[in-house]
Amino acid sequence: MIGIIGAMDLEIVRLKEQMTDKKEEQLSGVHFTKGKLFGKDAVLAVCGIGKTFAALCAQTLILRYNPEIVINVGVAGTLCDRLSIGDMAIGTAAVCHDMDTSPLGDPVGLISGLDMVEIPLNAQMRETFEECCEEEGIHYVSGVIASGDQFIDDGSKKQWIRDTFCAIACEMEGQAIAQVCYVNRKPCAILRSISDSANGTAADYMQFKELAAEHSSRVLARFLKIE
Ligand code: ADE
Repeated sequence: MIGIIGAMDLEIVRLKEQMTDKKEEQLSGVHFTKGKLFGKDAVLAVCGIGKTFAALCAQTLILRYNPEIVINVGVAGTLCDRLSIGDMAIGTAAVCHDMDTSPLGDPVGLISGLDMVEIPLNAQMRETFEECCEEEGIHYVSGVIASGDQFIDDGSKKQWIRDTFCAIACEMEGQAIAQVCYVNRKPCAILRSISDSANGTAADYMQFKELAAEHSSRVLARFLKIE
C-alpha cells in the first residue's frame, strides 16, 4: 500500500481521476480514497492546510492502512534562484521553520524529543523522483523543504528561512508528515512543484497553483507506473 497525502483537493484530484476500484472512507475528519493506481494499491488523502491537519492525517493513514511508503505531493513557494514556477522541489530532508526553542539554548528549528532539526527523507524514492522528472522533462532541484504554518510572501522572511535552514522550497505540511513517518519508521518522500516566488507575489500562486499541481501529479504518476 502506498499512502499519498495532499493538503488540498487540487493536489491529488488528477491522481484520483486515474484511480480504479475506489473506496471512500472518512476517518478523524479526513477523507481517504483507497483503490488501484496504475496497478498498485494506494490510498489518497486530502489533509487540509497546515502542520496540525497534516500530522493528524499522516498518523491516521498509518494506523488505518499501514502503508509501506508515504508520499506528500503538492505545491510550494520557491526559496532559491534555481527553482522557478512549474519546477519540482524534491525533499532530501524536512525542517519546521516555525519551531523555535532557541531561548533555551537550542538551535532554531530543533525538534525537541527527536533532537534533530532536519528530518531525513527516503533517499531511494528521491532518486527515483529525480529520474521521473528527467523523463517528464521537468526541471528539478533536490534539497531541504521547509514547512511552517504561514504562507510565505515576504522577501525578508523568505531569505531568513533559506539562510537558516539551507532550504529550497517552503510549504505548510511536509515536515509534519515527515516527522510522523519518522516516529512510525515509515519511509517518506516530499514532492512539490513551485507555484509562486514566496515574495510579494501571492497572485502568482492563484495563477499557477493548477499548473504546479499538474506537474507534481504527472511526476508522481510516472513514479507509480514503475514496476
Ligand atoms: N505553498 C505554496 N506556496 C507557498 C508559500 N509561498 N508559502 C507557504 N506554502 C506555500
